[in-house]
Amino acid sequence: MRAHIIDGKALAADLRASIAEAVRALRREHAVVPGIAVVLVGDDPASSVYVRAKSKAVGEAGMKAVDRRLPASTSEAELLALIASLNADPSVNGILVQLPLPRQIDAQKVIAAIDPEKDVDGFHPINVGRLASGLPSLIPCTPMGCVRLARTVHASIAGMDAVVIGRSNIVGKPVAQLLLAENATVTIAHSKTRDLPALCRRADILVAAIGRPEMVRGEWIKPGATVIDVGINRIIDASGKPRIVGDVAYAEAVQCAGAITPVPGGVGPMTIACLLLNTLRATCAQKGLTAPTI
Ligand code: GUN
Repeated sequence: MRAHIIDGKALAADLRASIAEAVRALRREHAVVPGIAVVLVGDDPASSVYVRAKSKAVGEAGMKAVDRRLPASTSEAELLALIASLNADPSVNGILVQLPLPRQIDAQKVIAAIDPEKDVDGFHPINVGRLASGLPSLIPCTPMGCVRLARTVHASIAGMDAVVIGRSNIVGKPVAQLLLAENATVTIAHSKTRDLPALCRRADILVAAIGRPEMVRGEWIKPGATVIDVGINRIIDASGKPRIVGDVAYAEAVQCAGAITPVPGGVGPMTIACLLLNTLRATCAQKGLTAPTI
């Protein structure tokens, strides 16, 4: 069996086209242009690449991106002051602070300072709590992308066994909450999990969000399972060339999975599309408008 390849790039393009259409309608009918502030502190190369991609996508969707680049030496107080000014700015509907932050800044403090209505990452404790309570909330982008990708394979995932490897606040925990909200039976695995391969072999849906190149082997995968690979790892391959790989050994996994997301071209593009969707939803909520169902 060779797996169906879930084309995240194509799905993200469809989603972005629908969002751009909704943004045009918002501008035409209500003279509203969604605005998002993208904040990067320091010059981490990977973060710089992600932030550039996010700002470009925001512009292409017809939204306004306000880029704020701060030096690595920025103090926590300076960043908190910037957040306060963005919270108060009515032309800013979404605020994204790229993580990780430099050591001198407490990321949790910064996230908690963002107006929850502008928290397009869905990381604020109020949005985390709302998601866990089954209330409407802004939902973290990568987890939303993962579930949307899984839902292209399964009209319903109710009753399925889902295993999430990784318990980060950005991916592992929220993706588990979303799968639970879809009535899957969810297990979160992590570095202390005993016999991870055996646990994975029980999964109808396997989400790998560990950050370790090709850690999940083909023989860990239940035949026919849906595999969502969140990893983006830069490696030097056997021929000495740099290459991006996921957390799943793709060449092995594709032989036995039922469906799998490639890296690149799977979850990554969906993360950006879901950020745009959150920005659209946040803007509509702030303006008292009903967000379109996308
Ligand atoms: N760093 C890695 N992923 C993310 C994300 O989804 N949002 C932010 N703000 N930072 C990240």
